Amino acid sequence: MAATARTPLISGNWKMNHNHFEAIQTVQKLAYLLHADDYEVVDVSVHPPFTDIRSVQTVLEADETPIRIGAQHCYFEEKGAFTGEVSPAMLAKLNVELVIVGHSERREIFGETDELVNQKVKAVFKHAMTPILCCGETLAEREAGGAEEKVSGQVRAGLAGLSAEQVASMVIAYEPIWAIGTGKTATADDAQAMCKVVRDTVAEVAGEEAATSVRIQYGGSVKGSNAAELMAQPDIDGALVGGASLVAEDFAAIVQYRSHG
Ligand code: PGA
Repeated sequence: MAATARTPLISGNWKMNHNHFEAIQTVQKLAYLLHADDYEVVDVSVHPPFTDIRSVQTVLEADETPIRIGAQHCYFEEKGAFTGEVSPAMLAKLNVELVIVGHSERREIFGETDELVNQKVKAVFKHAMTPILCCGETLAEREAGGAEEKVSGQVRAGLAGLSAEQVASMVIAYEPIWAIGTGKTATADDAQAMCKVVRDTVAEVAGEEAATSVRIQYGGSVKGSNAAELMAQPDIDGALVGGASLVAEDFAAIVQYRSHG
């Protein structure tokens, strides 16, 4: 596949961490640590809990900091009697640009199915935001030799009914479940091999052009010390970072992986 200029996307998934005061401190520190030349070569997003998004938006917009605002999930309906849920329209109104969909914690803890994930991907697009569709295998699936099948199945299901243009513009995060929050990172070779499976699957369902454009992130214990090696892989276009995104210095070191490699 021809080499392309896919701008890397480094995303911080805060999960259920940081209240809105801590969120403000973290983005202010991050804004101080990152510089114009970082934003020229890397896209950066933070995905705080819903209760923090308005505060984070206010800080970033007041200072014109080019960190993109992300969400960790949403529901697919516009509005209505869905107690506890947040709609894509509500996120779009807060200038959220990227929404993580189908994170393994949503799938494993909250029972999100491939079908629901696909509905959410479509709803995110409907509100002109970009989905970050997550996929990844468990340790048992990997040990049984089923990693590729699991991941390509999740990608196929997640992309069902999308146009090639939509697929080209989105982000897919490959996150092996056994590497999330465990300190065990996939080797750069394993991560590359699986991200290639993702790209080949995209080529099958949406064509070569979409596969060349889609950005594929690796996620699972990414830190400053391993980011450069992962990012050097031809099919890895970014990172979805959990634990290390909570501390501004640690996350900045990942965003600035070029100088830490
Ligand atoms: P981690 O989480 O970096 O803490 O492993 C990654 C993720 O779940 O997105």
